[in-house]
Amino acid sequence: MNDMSAVGSVASDAPIYSVSDLVIDLYAGNVSVRAVDGVTFSVRPRETLAVVGESGSGKTVMTLGPLGLLPEGVTVDMRGKAVSDGRDLLGMGARELSRMRGGRFGVVFQDPISALNPMKRVGPQLAAQARRLTGVSRAKAREAAIGLLRRAGIPDPEDRYNRYPHEMSGGMLQRAMIALALASKPQVLIADEPTTALDATVQAQIIELIRQLQREEGIAVVLITHDIGVVSTVADRVMVLYAGRIAEEGPAREVLTAPVHPYTIGLLGSVPDLRKPIGEPRQGIPGAPPDQSRLVPGCRFADRCPMVEPECRIHSPQLEQVPGADPMHRVACPPQLRAIRERADA
Ligand SMILES: Nc1ncnc2c1ncn2[C@@H]1O[C@H](COP(=O)(O)OP(=O)(O)O)[C@@H](O)[C@H]1O
Ligand SMILES: [Mg+2]
Repeated sequence: MNDMSAVGSVASDAPIYSVSDLVIDLYAGNVSVRAVDGVTFSVRPRETLAVVGESGSGKTVMTLGPLGLLPEGVTVDMRGKAVSDGRDLLGMGARELSRMRGGRFGVVFQDPISALNPMKRVGPQLAAQARRLTGVSRAKAREAAIGLLRRAGIPDPEDRYNRYPHEMSGGMLQRAMIALALASKPQVLIADEPTTALDATVQAQIIELIRQLQREEGIAVVLITHDIGVVSTVADRVMVLYAGRIAEEGPAREVLTAPVHPYTIGLLGSVPDLRKPIGEPRQGIPGAPPDQSRLVPGCRFADRCPMVEPECRIHSPQLEQVPGADPMHRVACPPQLRAIRERADA
């Protein structure tokens, strides 16, 4: 298919990025942690996948690991597949991966400050990136960077071009970071809690910016967020991670309004209130996530689960379709699935 035939067409069904059976072990010192344990997901053009789960559930490692963006100082062992453009990122060398990152993928981090060099002016950092990615001349790169700032909704971009990071607000910087991520015209935008460090008004603006870019450019977005309002307004699908595994996934509206996994139910509170964040459980799920350096059989949530049954500690639950629900709605909780089936039979 050539580019023209794609113009104005509806979202194609072919995923633009597909991760399957991803397992990521981290080794730091003599501790090893299974941060991601058999995760599968994909995104299509124009689609937003939201990833939610408590802190430490593996959201960042799952999304940044395949792109080679985990911090140095930790040894990373990855298995599975992360395929884009017919190629597996996990098999790529550093240089090829860097090209892939600069081309197909754009990444927005939680903390914009840490992604920019504090000693250098903002604009030239964007220009250098644009140059590196597209090979344009210095003058053109400046123009491109100002254009990117303008597109990201930054007022007076010619003036902002010469500012240092500390001279800009968090919201402005995050806009600049999004501009930077978009410099390479990515097809997939990975945003790791892009609004966590910002106040509510600015959060809403940043989310609106991402939505607008998605509409205009047709990019696919993987959005890690703590904000249930964000999930309900922008996500097509949602994935709930618990201790490195998918507890539940499906169409966002359905998972938010009819959660099945006890963990999702706990995260949302029994009555979902779209104004509250979901980063931490609402009414408090007693206990803490398991120690991922000790792998035990069974469901990771068993020790905290109000509905735990003996079988839960023996077999690792697999994702299964929720009976009578959207076919994409899947959950890894045999007792709940059985209860739904029994109710349907009654
Ligand atoms: N740099 C690191 N060194 C060692 N362990 C890490 C590192 N980063 C993350 N982890 C571990 O990997 C797991 C997943 O972390 P992470 O993906 O950051 O969670 P989330 O983004 O959902 O808060 C956690 O158990 C965390 O302790
Ligand atoms: Mg994280």
